[in-house]
Amino acid sequence: MFTSKTDCFTLANGVQIPCIGYGTWQTPDGETAAACVKAALDAGYRHIDTAFAYGNETGVGEGLRRSGVARQEIFLTSKHWVTERGYDKTIKAVETSLRLLGTDYLDLYLVHWPCVAKLTPEWKEVNADTWRGFERMYKDGKLRAIGVSNYFPNHLEALMDMCEIKPMVNQLEFHPGYTQMDNIRWSQEHGMLAQAWSPLGSGAVLADPTLNAMAEKYGKSVAQLCVRFALQCDVLPLPKSTKPERIAANADVFDFAISDEDMAALLAMPQLGFSGFLPEDAPADAIA
Ligand code: A2P
Repeated sequence: MFTSKTDCFTLANGVQIPCIGYGTWQTPDGETAAACVKAALDAGYRHIDTAFAYGNETGVGEGLRRSGVARQEIFLTSKHWVTERGYDKTIKAVETSLRLLGTDYLDLYLVHWPCVAKLTPEWKEVNADTWRGFERMYKDGKLRAIGVSNYFPNHLEALMDMCEIKPMVNQLEFHPGYTQMDNIRWSQEHGMLAQAWSPLGSGAVLADPTLNAMAEKYGKSVAQLCVRFALQCDVLPLPKSTKPERIAANADVFDFAISDEDMAALLAMPQLGFSGFLPEDAPADAIA
């Protein structure tokens, strides 16, 4: 098990990825994003997760530079947005994210949401075409690793039938009360690292009495319990906060271990804090 936030998972291509990342969904661009990313790097995080759709790549890039930490010491992820599907648009989307972030490579680039059958009959071809753009930029050295987000096994099976390089990561909603463990395990068994978005249930699980009682037993906060829970499921957590003290505290999870019995209880919790976003409902397409 990991002993610090800079310990790494190893991706299928050998690239090392720090075991906790700082998430930036809903973090406003500009000064807020820059200050938050700097606070995360000051607190010792070396892994930052953003996306074009978050609209904060400029501020995130500013935070990276402001931190004074060398670019090659930081693992930086961004994501491809649904409006940019297809080979040519994907190439341009990577170039846009690089420009906004002020960097010349990404450590990881993810397809944010799959194109799905409900909206697009030729969804398999659209996803494969987008992925060819990912493979091109990976081979060109602009992306050190490539993966997907919010892909269920049926989307992955279709993609893996048509692609040359398999996705190395699948980022899914994951927290106590919504683990979608079948999808997580399927990705892990097919060679992908599973990552957790909203590992704290976007804050919605933090007041739960069962979780509070369990966290208290370990002398930790519920947020720390959630982050540790992900790690003990071999899922890489991406907690976010805009408050420096919480940013630091959320990664202070290496001085305790959740017992097998409590892990089983966490995995068996009734649904809590589910975002409501499912790929087949195409939430992203609906708002794009
Ligand atoms: P804030 O930014 O005010 O700290 P997730 O990572 O699952 O998406 O959850 C993020 C949400 O949880 C944000 O609303 C964030 O609010 C809140 N949050 C993050 N860390 C903590 C914490 N340690 N205690 C309480 N709330 C937290």
